Amino acid sequence: MKIAVFGTGPAGRTVAAALASQLHSVSIGTRDPAATLARDDRGPDGDRQTFAQWHAHNAEIRLLTFEEAARDAWLVFNLTAGEAVLAALQAAGKPNLADKVLIDVSNALDFSAGFPPSLSISNTDSLAEVIQREFPETKVVKSLNTVNAALMVNPKALAGGDHTIFLSGDDAGAKEIASDLLRAFGWEDIIDLGELSNARGMEMYLPLWVRLMGTLGTANFNIKVVR
Ligand SMILES: NC(=O)c1ccc[n+]([C@@H]2O[C@H](COP(=O)([O-])OP(=O)(O)OC[C@H]3O[C@@H](n4cnc5c(N)ncnc54)[C@H](OP(=O)(O)O)[C@@H]3O)[C@@H](O)[C@H]2O)c1
Repeated sequence: MKIAVFGTGPAGRTVAAALASQLHSVSIGTRDPAATLARDDRGPDGDRQTFAQWHAHNAEIRLLTFEEAARDAWLVFNLTAGEAVLAALQAAGKPNLADKVLIDVSNALDFSAGFPPSLSISNTDSLAEVIQREFPETKVVKSLNTVNAALMVNPKALAGGDHTIFLSGDDAGAKEIASDLLRAFGWEDIIDLGELSNARGMEMYLPLWVRLMGTLGTANFNIKVVR
């Protein structure tokens, strides 16, 4: 499948590499490819590769502008920063996203008052719904925003994969396609919460997620819904 991954941060890189390893035709979208290749984004402790170093090891993934990547793709993963999602998708262009499945993994985290972050959208709305309203012809599915990037694509690395992932969306066919991709990553316990407004619940889990991360001292955890 031709897939565009929007986002050159840790999550975008992880999802793009995992999809490419499954032999999808993958591009990674960014604002300015030259600037992305030139920047030193090794993180505060220098604990990760620059984008250029990462890309050198993942050369089969094409680095394109958001617009080029969307135009060429059949399905889009959105892994852009919460406050920048609309800017990134608008740069892609409405016609290039029309009739396509968009799996939204973003979180509207607001760090302006420090840590822990609050949510800039909550309760009566969600980032996923904001995207759907702005791009009515795109089939938005919310998923994977409740786990860290490594677990998104490799749930079996934790508890043998015996934990839960959620999805929601208004288009049944789009959710089937998203579920197939989740199963290919190794997810087995997939809970379809129903229509896209249920993304509010998925996004409002984040305040608990960041506190669990602080308490546990790791981002490598998830919840299992026991019936
Ligand atoms: N990291 C995780 O483990 C994890 C887990 C669950 C959910 N998520 C969600 O996934 C998303 C990505 O997280 P991340 O940590 O990988 O990276 P991030 O730093 O939150 O986002 C990086 C991406 O956002 C884009 N961006 C930033 N400002 C922009 C602007 N003004 N206009 C357009 N695009 C802009 C960047 O574009 P350029 O490429 O042009 O720089 C880059 O592609 C977030 O919404 C996050 O909440 C992350």
